[in-house]
Amino acid sequence: MKALILVGGFGTRLRPLTLTLPKPLVEFANKPMILHQIEALVEAGVTDIVLAVNYRPEVMVKVLEKVEEQYNIKITFSVESEPLGTAGPLALARDILAKDDSPFFVLNADVTCAYPFKQLAEFHKSHGNEGTILVTKVAEPSKYGVIVSQPGSTKIDRFVEKPQTFVGNRINAGMYIFTPKILDRIELRPTSIEQEIFPAMAKAGELHTFELDGFWMDVGQPKDYLSGTCLYLTHLTSTKSKLLTYPEGNSYIYGGNVLIDPTAEVDPTALIGPNVVIGPGAKVGKGVRLQRCVLLANARVKDHAWVQSSILGWNSTIGKWSRVENITVLGDDVTIKDELYVNGASVLPHKSISSSIPSPTIVM
Ligand code: GDD
Ligand code: MG
Repeated sequence: MKALILVGGFGTRLRPLTLTLPKPLVEFANKPMILHQIEALVEAGVTDIVLAVNYRPEVMVKVLEKVEEQYNIKITFSVESEPLGTAGPLALARDILAKDDSPFFVLNADVTCAYPFKQLAEFHKSHGNEGTILVTKVAEPSKYGVIVSQPGSTKIDRFVEKPQTFVGNRINAGMYIFTPKILDRIELRPTSIEQEIFPAMAKAGELHTFELDGFWMDVGQPKDYLSGTCLYLTHLTSTKSKLLTYPEGNSYIYGGNVLIDPTAEVDPTALIGPNVVIGPGAKVGKGVRLQRCVLLANARVKDHAWVQSSILGWNSTIGKWSRVENITVLGDDVTIKDELYVNGASVLPHKSISSSIPSPTIVM
């Protein structure tokens, strides 16, 4: 089977992390975001993956060459010279997507869930129309594509991208499967699949829904990245995942949902959890308190610091007795000096902070 992952976009909403790595390579639960999707696709029998990109492919190419070998799959970079939106990239990759009659998956790169690709493919084959969209329910539908189905049917009646007024709470989860016939609808130019293609397909009765079970989150911005991390960790806990096996002497885990890379060093007098991810090479000092936060690789939290609802970038350091909270995001190699209070700051890479930040600010 084949798949195309929409990787482009500049990931501006996940700055400052995306100033260092393209969004799909930013780790989510200690693994590059895109690898969660690739592994799930492979599991469903996909062997041919197109990555539709419009910036910095060179970093991605290196990382993904290894992935190709590891999973024995073919990954092709389809590089746009101008951003082609969410539909144009399908036309650009036409040769691969239409090389046989079998259906192909299309994924937004920034969504996390349990990826039920096998079931999605089975359902798609059963109805015989052009497309199936994975749908989920959210409380705040206005920032998503909203779907209205025909009563008592899986057929989609209306697709409204980012509605200004309330249309419904069932939304496009950003994952699809299509028959190659959809390609006849898409020209090679910047095109939004949500605004131009889906409404037409719905009108023609060619678009169905498949309900997603369990958690879902678009993790394309820091607040949602943290919420998505909590949901994913809860999922790991409920499925008794081996990933949540802690190193020896785990007295410091509090409340569960804690994922610690085996190469991280956590002082046994620290108190960690619930909902914490500690990346490879990270160091957590004496008496530290961590809740609902992510430490990316080689981040360091010095003795007696307190961190909540924040993302500490690669190689960043929190000084002794400092307190960091409220969706603070530190870029690569940021230092917060000792005894400071940092509230909702977004700090660009390589900065050193030596006075407190009492209210949410971007530090450039
Ligand atoms: N190759 C390529 N080229 N990819 C692109 C481009 C482009 O020009 N523009 C956006 N993308 C990719 C993004 O990187 C992302 O993976 C995906 O397309 C969707 O773009 P977002 O910018 O994240 O869209 P959104 O989150 O506002 O809305 C989309 O996702 C929601 C679910 O999270 C829509 O599909 C909504 O309908 C949906 O509900
Ligand atoms: Mg998104």
